[in-house]
Amino acid sequence: MSDKTAELIFGPDKQSLPLPVYKPTLGTDVIDITSLAKKDIFTYDPGFMSTASCESKITYIDGDKGILLYRGYPIQQLAERSDFLEVCYLLLNAELPTASQKKQFFKTINHHTLVHEQMRSFFNGFRRDAHPMAVMLGVVGALSAFYHDSLDIKNPEHRELAAYRLIAKMPTMAAMCYKYSIGQPFCFPQNKRDYTENFLYMMFSVPSEDYVLNPVLSRALDRIFILHADHEQNASTSTVRLAGSTGANPFACIAAGIAALWGPAHGGANEACLNMLEEIGTSANISKYIKRAKDPEDSFRLMGFGHRVYKNFDPRAMVMRQTCHEVLEALEIHDSPLFRVALELEKIALEDDYFISRKLYPNVDFYSGITLKALGIPKNMFTVIFALARTVGWVSQWNEMIADPKRRIGRPRQLYTGPMQRDFVPLDQR
Ligand code: SDX
Repeated sequence: MSDKTAELIFGPDKQSLPLPVYKPTLGTDVIDITSLAKKDIFTYDPGFMSTASCESKITYIDGDKGILLYRGYPIQQLAERSDFLEVCYLLLNAELPTASQKKQFFKTINHHTLVHEQMRSFFNGFRRDAHPMAVMLGVVGALSAFYHDSLDIKNPEHRELAAYRLIAKMPTMAAMCYKYSIGQPFCFPQNKRDYTENFLYMMFSVPSEDYVLNPVLSRALDRIFILHADHEQNASTSTVRLAGSTGANPFACIAAGIAALWGPAHGGANEACLNMLEEIGTSANISKYIKRAKDPEDSFRLMGFGHRVYKNFDPRAMVMRQTCHEVLEALEIHDSPLFRVALELEKIALEDDYFISRKLYPNVDFYSGITLKALGIPKNMFTVIFALARTVGWVSQWNEMIADPKRRIGRPRQLYTGPMQRDFVPLDQR
């Protein structure tokens, strides 16, 4: 991997340290600094702006060119021509499935859609108005109580089963969160339905009526799942990897990922973005909010805008905008004030030097909220939908890390600027 070196000159005596430089298949060269620890010098990179935390073969992003590849396949092609369960197979197994592999995978995942009946009692411990992400955090973590003793993470078959269970059960638990919040009975999965249709069925069917599925909406949601499936070493995936590096069971690691995703700077941005669009209300108010977003004294940020990696455009946002348009058309919501405000806000922001100079563009969350709302999904379920879709990315990255023979526990160092050593002061002398 390394045919080049970088030279680090450091310390008062100008020590020289050759550092290997690794060339990736795609993207930026990396300097291997692992030998620095022996030289008693650390690098400092809060937010990991310039730090590659691992080697991975799963997803690649080119932030300048707006490229996103899952195992080498462009996100636009997958969103257009694949389906979410096939993308799950691709992320887990590195190749697209043959027809028979796809059929078997579909059957296997469907075999694990039910949750243990005792899981129901966990829901009763929550208030009905609890945020569904708080409930998901609890019930997904609780899966550890049902499976962790049958799980040897060093055993690839055990890891594969855990991955299947998580991918299969997330829609069931997500729908249970929603049903619990509105006081309706839980709905069992129907394994004759495909993955996304089954989720919509568990979300919106009621025992007293037949459920009629709108295939356009199911296809749109399936595409939304594809767009959110994986995204390199984002905050929640890095959390899953760090938790997994300690040998924690995968259900606990995915619960940790859900916790990290909840933040409004990350997966919580779709809910925050819709709140923002509703607060803006009409195009007449846009300039006031743009002004606030640009004011360094104001903590307000344009939700759904900006990205740590994409400094051109988020390819997912382009697909999301098109999907949003198709859903509104299919539902004959031609005059959606939210969609109109979003289009106008995007246009104004992209002509404003503040956003252009900082390379701030709409990200995947900018249009997903409007689309999910049009699909009948309540705002507080938006990040649950993100977590449902991202579970395959989390488990694929977790599996890649656990299978890596070079795996070590993640344990960053620090720049300490606290007090020097001092003696304890008894209470009567303080
Ligand atoms: C996701 O990492 C991933 O891959 C995440 C994700 C995934 O699939 O996993 O893509 C999903 O999390 C998408 C991002 C969703 N978050 C939002 O939409 C929230 C709004 N965006 C920002 O909070 C911000 O853009 C981040 C968190 C996304 C990125 O933050 P960075 O990379 O740390 O950038 P920064 O905060 O250093 O901002 C650089 C400058 C700053 O101004 P200056 O100090 O240079 O004057 O840009 C400004 C920021 O104030 N800025 C914004 C802004 N985002 C950044 N100003 C107004 N509105 C914004 N949205």
